Amino acid sequence: MPQPSTLDLGPAAARDAASVDERPILQVRNLNKRFGDGCARCLAPNADFPGNRCPQCGAVMACIDMNFDLYPGEILGVVGESGSGKSTMVRSLYFDEEATSGEMLISTYKNGESNLLTESAQQKRYIRNHVMGMVYQNPYLGLRMSYSSSGNIAEKLFAADRFHVGRIRERAMELLGRVEIPLNRMDEAPKRFSGGMQQRVQISKALANNPPLLLLDEVTTGLDLSVQARVLDLIRSLRRELKVAMIVVSHDLGVIRMLADRTMVLRQGRIIEMGLTDQILEDPQHAYTQLLVHSLL
Ligand SMILES: Nc1ncnc2c1ncn2[C@@H]1O[C@H](COP(=O)(O)OP(=O)(O)O)[C@@H](O)[C@H]1O
Ligand SMILES: [Mg+2]
Ligand SMILES: [Zn+2]
Repeated sequence: MPQPSTLDLGPAAARDAASVDERPILQVRNLNKRFGDGCARCLAPNADFPGNRCPQCGAVMACIDMNFDLYPGEILGVVGESGSGKSTMVRSLYFDEEATSGEMLISTYKNGESNLLTESAQQKRYIRNHVMGMVYQNPYLGLRMSYSSSGNIAEKLFAADRFHVGRIRERAMELLGRVEIPLNRMDEAPKRFSGGMQQRVQISKALANNPPLLLLDEVTTGLDLSVQARVLDLIRSLRRELKVAMIVVSHDLGVIRMLADRTMVLRQGRIIEMGLTDQILEDPQHAYTQLLVHSLL
């Protein structure tokens, strides 16, 4: 069972960690994502079966009644074994997947009074270009590999109706410089870059229009350790400088320990524990988290 005291620590801990204003930048309420139509068995109000796949129809409950807040400038870690719903959660928040139900409010969008999940396709495009950025594990999902790096940034700026060629060039130099891409390579295509460089270009593209919220899904997975360290350092310094709030998904607890103020633990589509990262990693309350922390999963 979840430990209520641990869950209660969440928002207060976040305020201490970020010491910023009281209002969350992001509020997620009862987020649900089901793959498949569902059937009488799994759509019943008190449906109960082991795991998150309906034994009757095979529908997968990838996100079940997820609730959490994220504060400005805070980094929230997301951990859980493979298939626990980490990617589906961030993909639903970024509209890559259509959430089945739930509410998502962002304080800088319509004063935090409109459910982003039910906005029109056109508004969702606007939100993806202005309000949120996403960085994928696979850079092919976030970058056009045969455009130049500067062209990738320009594309994002165009999408936000920023058309002034000179200023676009300046902004691309500023962003790529910030993520330490040598400027004499800014007109090269990312497909010619190393994995670590591709991730840095992807991060700069996601930040092009200064979104207050960045979603990162396993962005250092598969990189060499030294390359990984450089990307993690970059993420930390960007948070410090830009005060951008982030959701960082990783199955690597080392990454979570280094980056996250608070951490949520997912199991079979549910948040089962949430609290300060140190507390989650040093003194996990839930038996599943204990197994996870001791690398037994
Ligand atoms: N497009 C899809 N169609 C059907 N099931 C999916 C799809 N994407 C993910 N799933 C299922 O949803 C669950 C959560 O997957 P995912 O979010 O990728 O987990 P994680 O990122 O934690 O490894 C898994 O059971 C997975 O098989
Ligand atoms: Mg995943
Ligand atoms: Zn079913």
